[in-house]
Amino acid sequence: MLIRLWLIPTQILMEHFNMGFKYGRTCSYNIIKIPQPDQGAMNKPYQKASIIGTIAPHTRHPSYFHSFGMTEKYFIFVEQPVIINIWKAVTSKLFGYAFADMFDYHPEWPTRFHIINRETGEAMTTAYITDSLFVFHHVNAYEKDDHLVVDMCCYPNVDVVKELYLNDVQAGKELSGLPKPWRFVLPLKITDSTPVGENLVTLKDSKATAVKLDDGSIHCTQEMIIDLQPDDSAELPRINYAAVNGKEYKYAYSIGGYFSSLLKWDVEERSYKEWKFENGYPSEPIFVPKPNATREDEGVVLSSVMTVGENNPSFLLILDGESFKEIARAKVPMHITYGLHGLFETD
Ligand SMILES: [Fe+2]
Repeated sequence: MLIRLWLIPTQILMEHFNMGFKYGRTCSYNIIKIPQPDQGAMNKPYQKASIIGTIAPHTRHPSYFHSFGMTEKYFIFVEQPVIINIWKAVTSKLFGYAFADMFDYHPEWPTRFHIINRETGEAMTTAYITDSLFVFHHVNAYEKDDHLVVDMCCYPNVDVVKELYLNDVQAGKELSGLPKPWRFVLPLKITDSTPVGENLVTLKDSKATAVKLDDGSIHCTQEMIIDLQPDDSAELPRINYAAVNGKEYKYAYSIGGYFSSLLKWDVEERSYKEWKFENGYPSEPIFVPKPNATREDEGVVLSSVMTVGENNPSFLLILDGESFKEIARAKVPMHITYGLHGLFETD
């Protein structure tokens, strides 16, 4: 039996990278490189696709994942303690399992960071771990002074998946754990002589920690990228992808509040700006750079806003990427369902 899941692609120039997993006698996570197809073969997007790196899982069943990180030299794959129970997956139609029913959560297991060299496809042997968490979306990742900085929107556990069942949503139940903007900093130069029990993160101003344990693994703890209130969240993050993906960056955009506002993060200053709309729910904010822009946040932010109430049509919101002030809204004569992700294409 072979199952492959194809997930969110990440693009650099004309190449795409993606991840999937293979399940059979052996199980693995695979990193797939998808070069641009030949001229005349655009209807065969996987013409030149190949597996360039393989990661061995720590469990019999594969961990659920939704996205991955990428820097100039490395891929970062987060193996979280939420596995997809393959037996439930293959018998789901027979027993009427929903996708979320296939998740088995093991809060007693660590979350593992796998670092894969983009050039060689080899995974680093150092075991980087943190406590159990759940993540859908990476924000960005980059290398700095022999560290890997990994930014993600993280939940304390996997409960969010089942708390979005229709019955609970209709009953007005709130999520028990909100997504927060967390940064992990992984020191890259680990040797046998690296001392045990000391914080190995030496990046200036970072509160993230990484401590070598007796078994040689590196246990990491996070820091908040921006200081949100306890009842605020940050999800569906976007950056100026063309300019700063895989590089040190200053700005990100996300939804915030209780999924009811938009945020512009200043990652350096650890501050944020917020755009609120009382009777609506904005979708993922898409940053569109101004042509020939010279500043990272020079452009606009687009979001489709689902509205509530009669005589209150949904609209496409356009914010200024720098001031985060509203420029315009394009109303449509109807309610648009909530959009989650979005895409902007120039043509
Ligand atoms: Fe997503």
